[in-house]
Amino acid sequence: MYVCICRAVTESEVHECIADGATSAKQIKDATGAGGDCALCVRKICAILKRSEDLATVA
Ligand code: FES
Repeated sequence: MYVCICRAVTESEVHECIADGATSAKQIKDATGAGGDCALCVRKICAILKRSEDLATVA
């Protein structure tokens, strides 16, 4: 499923970025381009980041 329509970035690409060490929406933007256009997806990216942080805390 696309997170960023403008740059055609999928949720799994965002997850890969997080797995590679990205901890902020800016790092994900630098790596994938997501959020570099209309920026409507930035909230979604932040939610994915938050969710993965929560999972990391639980694990
Ligand atoms: S949807 Fe991501 S920049 Fe527009």
